[in-house]
Amino acid sequence: MAMIRFPDDFVWGAASSAYQIEGACEEDGRGPSIWDTFCHTPGRVYQGHVGDKAADHYHRYAGDVGIMAELGLNAYRFSIAWSRVLPAGKGKINTKGLDFYDRLVDALMEQGITPFPTLHHWDLPQALQDEGGGWANRETAYHFAEFARLMVERLGDRVTRWITHNEPFVLSVLGHFMGEHAPGITDPLVTFQVGYHLLLSHGLAVDVLRTCSRQPPKVGITLDYSPMHPATETDEDTQAARRLDGIRNRMFFEPILLGEYPEDVREMLGPLMPEIKDGDLRQMSASIDFIGVNYYTRTVVRHDPGFPIIAASPVEQEGNEYSMMWEIYPEGLYETITRVWHDYRPPLIYITENGIPVPDDVDHDGQVRDYRRIRYLRDHLFQVHRALEMGIPVKGYFHWSLTDNFEWAFGYRMRFGLVFVDFDTQERTIKESGRWFARVIENNGLDPASSGMHLTG
Ligand code: FCB
Repeated sequence: MAMIRFPDDFVWGAASSAYQIEGACEEDGRGPSIWDTFCHTPGRVYQGHVGDKAADHYHRYAGDVGIMAELGLNAYRFSIAWSRVLPAGKGKINTKGLDFYDRLVDALMEQGITPFPTLHHWDLPQALQDEGGGWANRETAYHFAEFARLMVERLGDRVTRWITHNEPFVLSVLGHFMGEHAPGITDPLVTFQVGYHLLLSHGLAVDVLRTCSRQPPKVGITLDYSPMHPATETDEDTQAARRLDGIRNRMFFEPILLGEYPEDVREMLGPLMPEIKDGDLRQMSASIDFIGVNYYTRTVVRHDPGFPIIAASPVEQEGNEYSMMWEIYPEGLYETITRVWHDYRPPLIYITENGIPVPDDVDHDGQVRDYRRIRYLRDHLFQVHRALEMGIPVKGYFHWSLTDNFEWAFGYRMRFGLVFVDFDTQERTIKESGRWFARVIENNGLDPASSGMHLTG
């Protein structure tokens, strides 16, 4: 097959998040976040792993930016640790924390790498959790807007791309219903309040970012999306897939892009549905410049009367290839992009995360031959290109992640990086996938038939 090419102004990036890479949890005045607390609670995270050091990015950011430059990235998505700049989530500012993000932004800009900060990637300051119940409390949305103000006032002379939140679905449902993520709550009522307040806080922050930025900003949010496929063609499974689609996808996309909560979701939630206050839907749907979409896999769904609220649960598809966490299903990325485009018509789409955990290691000669990641990248980029050919405005692709890092409840077991990290020494090694991705960026295209092997010696 011939080379496929991407548009000249296509954004090629990698993504990360503060708690997963920064470390330096008790340094320079950083306050604790709910993830510090969660990790230090026995039994919560794989083998008791904690993010205290993570990939030590707080100290090694300059080297990491050097690696980004070596790979040729033209954008970098990272998140700001709220409790590093506002240790209690509000009130007293920690200037040393702000200085860190200043240095990071400057280092990126010096290399011509566009910063795409995400304001909140799940690491709520613990003080806000303790004091008011965190995202279950409407007040937290207003504190978030103040945090957004602080950041745009500080960085808005250089930063013009802003992402408010990362994956509100995961924070509300895994954090407050399943209890598998911080803050480890299992309360259905709280779950949907959290989702609601995250949506509201997004809208409030959009307004603040626009009003307070010194340059016209481009503002968006990152939502995760998983196409829902019924396990069988029965009516039961089809309805089950529709219900999970409602909770997982539509409950977040619709308020933001259409200014409404899906009717079937409201009905399904019944008394669990938060009361919609006057003006909230208008606020949630404050106009954005782009939507960030994270795609990892599809979800195959069956009717399951035993599962609370949605009476649906995911099943594993037999005979397909799997990574350490999920089924590998590249076509799902095309389906995701086309569905988001057709259903919501966002101004622009960025793929803000896409990646694969595989058991990488360093070979005897110091190379990391992660050919499965190369194939994953190749096949997913091909799907992005298909969507571009349909005329859908996909503006960029951020691979998850730049480096191996702390993968939440899985700890350091899952390696997602283009760059291998030895967590004992913090030594970085660019994996074969990193070199392959660099070639793609350099050529602004790829050969969808290439195996990715023998690219580097
Ligand atoms: C996403 C998260 C990101 C990372 C990847 C693997 O849900 O946004 O932080 O953990 O999954």
